[in-house]
Amino acid sequence: DNHDIKFLLSDAIPLDSEVTVRGWVRSRRDSKAGFSFVAVYDGSCFDAIQTVIPNHLENYSSEVLKITTGCSVEVTGLLSASVGQGQAREVQVTAITVIGWVDDPDTYPIAKKRHTFEYLRQVAHLRPRTNAFGAISRIRTTLSSAIHRYFHEQNYHWVNTPIITASDCEGAGELFRVSTLDLSNLPRSKSGAVDFETDFFGREAFLTVSGQLNAEAYALALSKVYTFGPTFRAENSNTSRHLAEFWMVEPEVAFADLNDNARLAEDFLKYIFKAVMDERQDDMEFFAQRIDKQAIERLDAVISSDFEMMEYSDAIDILIKSGEAFVYPVKWGLDLQSEHEQYLAEKHVGRPVILVNYPASIKAFYMRLNDDEKSVAAMDVLVPGIGEIIGGSQREERLEVLDKRIQSLGIEGDLSWYRDLRRYGTVPHAGFGMGFERVVNYVTGMENIRDAIPFPRTPKHALF
Ligand code: 4AD
Ligand code: MG
Repeated sequence: DNHDIKFLLSDAIPLDSEVTVRGWVRSRRDSKAGFSFVAVYDGSCFDAIQTVIPNHLENYSSEVLKITTGCSVEVTGLLSASVGQGQAREVQVTAITVIGWVDDPDTYPIAKKRHTFEYLRQVAHLRPRTNAFGAISRIRTTLSSAIHRYFHEQNYHWVNTPIITASDCEGAGELFRVSTLDLSNLPRSKSGAVDFETDFFGREAFLTVSGQLNAEAYALALSKVYTFGPTFRAENSNTSRHLAEFWMVEPEVAFADLNDNARLAEDFLKYIFKAVMDERQDDMEFFAQRIDKQAIERLDAVISSDFEMMEYSDAIDILIKSGEAFVYPVKWGLDLQSEHEQYLAEKHVGRPVILVNYPASIKAFYMRLNDDEKSVAAMDVLVPGIGEIIGGSQREERLEVLDKRIQSLGIEGDLSWYRDLRRYGTVPHAGFGMGFERVVNYVTGMENIRDAIPFPRTPKHALF
């Protein structure tokens, strides 16, 4: 029977069973004693399984001795206790078939054992074969399924909000426009590029920056909802924290205020971190050894400690008194930059901070105005090493207050449907958005957000 390597390496299957493994070769080593050791991985777990191939197999010299890293193979043999170090089990091979050879082992782009992450971004189609990207992929899977599990256990409904939209939820003007092409009649410019385009069937439309506004409509009917999908931002910034396409998780809850929202964020983050610690020990050990020594301790500490709540105003005082030489100015009314967020989370508090009640002028139109009429019920969750991983707020549920804000910003245009939600059975409600790739980086200790997503979309990367 063909089994995942994860299963073969566990105790679930008894020794001396005949097994078949299908996967790719991580390495081959030949011993003088008449054996070759071929390590095979299939992505099901961090470890490869060692297969021990005796030189009496009929294809030993014709094939086995030509196997190189990256070849795909099917191996059959007896599952045995391993005498060597490093693994408890191995396969004593009775037959091996090479399914796909590596064309030219000398030019195989990832033949070497170690590559820089920068180099691997240029071979994004091959990097999932490396230890690091296999591990990142499995962490993404575990986080994704923990996210769905958390919300389903608490009776949230998953709402599939649209990718194509007319609204700029965040009001930051970072939109990609959607165009239709007349495919039957494609005039091409001299360069060969298509230069005939219209808008979305005659109207202006964009790729969504957030599913929140649509999620609010569903929260005001189903009470507890969340979205989990791709979002897009046309920010031409080359930072280690920004992608043009990233995945966001956005819960939205009726009858909830800012405190409920903060508690939800903390409980939710701890739950998904715990899932990683429980289910991906193998990969977390790799990150702790090779990427970030603190990876495991940090998650353990976050799971068992309370997040700190802090007022934006207090944060400004702390930053001013810190004596740090920040690049960007610090003053009440200015947005916090990554350096400020990192100072607060890393140096001042040393664990995640939930910063609340930001100035209205730097936050989006939908956030609820506080009684001081200067600040809004906003919250950002800041973590050491990354800064903001969650942004959210209590929403403005009062029509007159919302209208004033909309008018002062001059964004009346397409929001009549959103105003309806306040006209027909409005209730206090709140929600947040968690940047999935920022969380992947936080968990793994990877530094660049381009390494947290399979195929990064940034101003500089190939679009395959
Ligand atoms: O703070 P943001 O812009 O908030 C919203 O979009 C709200 N509508 C969310 C809500 O209340 N439902 O984005 C939310 C999170 C950020 O905290 C950050 O983690 C992530 O999304 N994020 C990005 N991640 C990668 N690349 C980018 N360009 C990102 N922009 C935001
Ligand atoms: Mg934000």
